[in-house]
Amino acid sequence: MNKIRAVITAIGGYVPEYRLTNEEVATMVNTSDEWITKRIGIKERRILKSEEGKGITYLAMKAIDDLKSRCSFDPLKIDAVFFATATPDYLFPNSASLVAHKTGMINAFGFDMEAACSGFIYALEIAQSCIVSGKHRKIMVIAGDVLSTLIDYTDRNTSPIFGDGCGCALVESTTDDLGLIDSIMRCDGSIPESLHVYGGGAVNPTTHETVNNKLHYIWQDGKVVFRHAVSNMSNTCQKLIKKNNLSEKEIDWIVPHQANLRIIDAVVNSLGVSREKVMINIEKYGNTGSASIPLCLWEWESRLHKGDKLILTAFGAGFTWGATYLKWGYN
Ligand code: UT7
Repeated sequence: MNKIRAVITAIGGYVPEYRLTNEEVATMVNTSDEWITKRIGIKERRILKSEEGKGITYLAMKAIDDLKSRCSFDPLKIDAVFFATATPDYLFPNSASLVAHKTGMINAFGFDMEAACSGFIYALEIAQSCIVSGKHRKIMVIAGDVLSTLIDYTDRNTSPIFGDGCGCALVESTTDDLGLIDSIMRCDGSIPESLHVYGGGAVNPTTHETVNNKLHYIWQDGKVVFRHAVSNMSNTCQKLIKKNNLSEKEIDWIVPHQANLRIIDAVVNSLGVSREKVMINIEKYGNTGSASIPLCLWEWESRLHKGDKLILTAFGAGFTWGATYLKWGYN
């Protein structure tokens, strides 16, 4: 019998309506459209603004509605829901359970996982292991963030970068030569200070002081993060490509996390893959955290063909990073 593999069989996505333009960011911090476009590659990002009182599960429900409109989807057949997010609605109940209930995925187990911007590829990795074990056949992977809730809009190191969005992927069992083929995943917590939200956890539970000291916002040392992002995504992709004997010509698409266009360019240059094969939508959405890779797949879906060879790569807080090699599952 052929080997069991895990394959993506449908994609959904959603971004909120509100467009926060560079011009509007420049009214809040000392920056300009020219600087942001040149140094980061972003023109606007979407913000969950008009839907107050709603959080990531709201975006996830919209993404799943979108997925349902593209495929035949039976919620009763879903075995598991893995929700990658750094911005859950609540500490608990977890967002996976809330979404499973609202969509009728009542036969599933589910949990949230936090791997920041690497969340989607980490969740795919777990989904793949569950499916290959033979115990589970259909898994809903959701990846999204409402990063605007963690931004200090007086800090120019972060306010131009991040946006909100959510993607989801139905991952199913197959014995065809399709789906997730190989991956390399890593984490390194040796320099947590370079990218963090230190408030609200057990070490710094929320107090007036943590709020006054802005501990609930993202803080980053941009240059350090930039350097590690480029070297780790480049090295990991190179290793994965070599391990699977892939030539640059054979790779159909590179799907990089969208954090900074200069990071994407540096990674792609290191791989020698032509830029037409790279999914880039950072100019429209900014850095949407765990959502950035599924939002690329969602946008490019109509251009993907069964059997296309994709390399997904991400880097995020932790640090977490990795690369996944998969063969696309459908036309
Ligand atoms: O998913 C992971 C999450 N985070 C990331 O991936 C972030 C990775 N890092 C970055 O994307 C970049 O480091 C930033 C976009 C955060 C900063 O870009 P940079 O090119 O590393 O800027 P820099 O800190 O080297 O600053 C260059 C210049 C400085 O001016 P001088 O000293 O050359 O006169 C800064 O003061 O740009 C100035 N600057 C800005 N100017 C306008 C820094 N930030 C801004 C700004 N607007 N927002």
